[in-house]
Amino acid sequence: MTSAAATYRLTQYASGGGCACKVPPGELERVLAGLTPAAGPDLLVGVETGDDAAVVRLDSGRAVVLTTDFFTPVVDDPYDWGRIAATNALSDVYAMGGEPLVAVNLLAWPRERVPFELAAEVLRGGADVARVAGCHLAGGHSIDDPEPKYGLAVTGIADPDRLLRNDSGRAGLPLTLTKPLGLGVLNNRHKATGEAFPEAVATMTTLNADASRAALAAGLTCATDVTGFGLLGHLYKLCRASGVSAVVDAAAVPYLDGAREALAEGFVPGGSRRNLDWVRPHLASEVAEDELVLLADAQTSGGLLVAGEVPGHPVVGELVRGSEATIAVR
Ligand code: CO
Ligand code: CO
Repeated sequence: MTSAAATYRLTQYASGGGCACKVPPGELERVLAGLTPAAGPDLLVGVETGDDAAVVRLDSGRAVVLTTDFFTPVVDDPYDWGRIAATNALSDVYAMGGEPLVAVNLLAWPRERVPFELAAEVLRGGADVARVAGCHLAGGHSIDDPEPKYGLAVTGIADPDRLLRNDSGRAGLPLTLTKPLGLGVLNNRHKATGEAFPEAVATMTTLNADASRAALAAGLTCATDVTGFGLLGHLYKLCRASGVSAVVDAAAVPYLDGAREALAEGFVPGGSRRNLDWVRPHLASEVAEDELVLLADAQTSGGLLVAGEVPGHPVVGELVRGSEATIAVR
């Protein structure tokens, strides 16, 4: 960190944190319910199923994938925060089976309270991630805002016949999770105490590119990324969109080191509890409440949840028959 970065703890300027600062899922759906978006036959993925990005067919072999994501600081280090926010924004393209083509920055900065050299570090982090992803990064838009926020608007390209959608899950498919959970509780602890969690930062800055390509190579068609609504929230959305139910094998779900300790010591983001409240009517749980909190923990730049086996990643459950979108946790 630069000396200025060490003086300013970016997380202290955020009321929420990362994807945990998402609008709660139930509230968002009530707002969207009143909208009648313009749509035509070439809009392959629109708003109906709450998928990760919009997809529009350009011609028989190509579709454009469009998404945006931005949030408040999840870590104090501005460069790391930039990398995390960019990795997370690109993730929604990978979650659709696309490849990012070009992105622009979205930056909100309290310019009278935090030096702009820290904003430069945030943008440098975003640029470095875009470079690794092979995605062009152009300008963007910035505003003066008491709360810092950063992210990208990303345009990607996909094969319209080989998309990863959240509504194509089928009963009998195993569920694969490509990154460990625990990011929400660890980020919450970092914000409260300043302790650093390098493994969490490494996880949040790992692109979902390889996982997405591996899922496509395996011939799979159903996936979503696990971000602010947590594993249970995103799984519920996938089940509802696909008209199936699911079983989660809680013991098979991987966690980052320190996640259980953070939970035990009470470092739980408000968003994680809201996620659990939202899915609870659809849960049939045989596990302890603490386990459910971790399964619903709001992730920032989490992995892909894929219907089907992805080599090298753990199977954490399966899709089963049942149009009620019930999730049994065992
Ligand atoms: Co997503
Ligand atoms: Co997103």
